[in-house]
Amino acid sequence: MRVDVSSARGPYPVVVEPGALARAAAEIEAAAPDATARVIVTDENVDAHHGEALRERLRPSGVVVLPPGEEGKTFRAVEGLLDRLVEHGLDRRGVVVAAGGGVVTDLAGFAAAIHLRGVRSVLLPTSLLAMVDAAIGGKTGVDTPRGKNLVGAFWPPRLVLSDPALLGSLPRREWIGGLAEVVKTALIADASLFEELEATSVDALRADPRAAAGTVARCARAKAELCSRDERDDGERQLLNLGHTIGHALEAATGFRGLSHGEAVAVGLVTEARLAERLGLAADGLAARIAALCRRLELPVRGPAVEVAHVRSFLRADKKREGRALRFALPVAVGHVERVDVADEAAIDLALAEAVAESA
Ligand SMILES: NC(=O)c1ccc[n+]([C@@H]2O[C@H](COP(=O)([O-])OP(=O)(O)OC[C@H]3O[C@@H](n4cnc5c(N)ncnc54)[C@H](O)[C@@H]3O)[C@@H](O)[C@H]2O)c1
Ligand SMILES: [Zn+2]
Repeated sequence: MRVDVSSARGPYPVVVEPGALARAAAEIEAAAPDATARVIVTDENVDAHHGEALRERLRPSGVVVLPPGEEGKTFRAVEGLLDRLVEHGLDRRGVVVAAGGGVVTDLAGFAAAIHLRGVRSVLLPTSLLAMVDAAIGGKTGVDTPRGKNLVGAFWPPRLVLSDPALLGSLPRREWIGGLAEVVKTALIADASLFEELEATSVDALRADPRAAAGTVARCARAKAELCSRDERDDGERQLLNLGHTIGHALEAATGFRGLSHGEAVAVGLVTEARLAERLGLAADGLAARIAALCRRLELPVRGPAVEVAHVRSFLRADKKREGRALRFALPVAVGHVERVDVADEAAIDLALAEAVAESA
């Protein structure tokens, strides 16, 4: 699958194909023909499994291996990385090649945005989440002590190349987290993918690279299309917040320790569907159907025990808030999501009460 994403800095291709890593060098050359240096940025886990293949295929001028994990997605890490890019001779015509999960593509993409006031980047996502979500759309950035992704830049890459064969080494837990974003994307834009997911399982997908590649391709295409129509995220792209308004509040209310991001999104998808039913936007039964799919994919449909008021306080801090009402992306049906400003606080509270464990 190959689809172009349009951006203010020109269109770039997103390629999804099993075995694509074998021709990554040619694809990079086509995307950045006059490139001088090529520096790979990756993390220790990806390096352990795929470092050799990456070095062999790309013949880079240098490789920077970062410690894995969200804790390392900081300004300090970017500063260190910028130093290393200089050491490896990355001048204004060089290319940063980010090979990793969303942490690596966000962080290295941001370093590319500010190194020498901006050099080209190529993204080789290696996690399911990065292939279907993080690597597409040009958002880059880091976390600060005040919150996740608070600093960054829109810096579209020159190429996104996904080789779903690399998912063979992705830990099962990371697969499940990525599947929450797959369910989200199917709900927004691909009803038939949603139906196919209803007939599969985590292990079936992991064992069938062709099925996994097809799933990645359909989600990548859906995100590419939304971002092409709304690069700066002030319109249609906000549909991708489905499950995230409540998901983020739950993550924050549990100090980012109670639930992984994917788990929080799954609870958010179910809870927001209940809210949509309560507001008369969605037919009864939608939330139950989403919950059944989440359970099938081993995702939770309820968070830990936290006070509703505590979760609500994080909802209020949501940066997508418009005036007094809260801006949600709410499911109307499978394959149909709408942006809705919700002022009905009682309905939100009821939905939240169902999102957290009863003992709270
Ligand atoms: N820019 C965007 O639009 C956007 C969108 C969604 C998420 N994100 C960001 O993405 C990040 C989450 O991405 P993630 O879930 O990929 O996290 P991650 O980069 O931390 O990767 C998850 C784990 O899987 C490992 N891993 C990755 N690929 C592997 C492979 N092929 N084999 C073995 N291990 C592998 C990593 O080392 C890490 O331990 C968050 O920081 C989030 O903010 C950005
Ligand atoms: Zn997400």
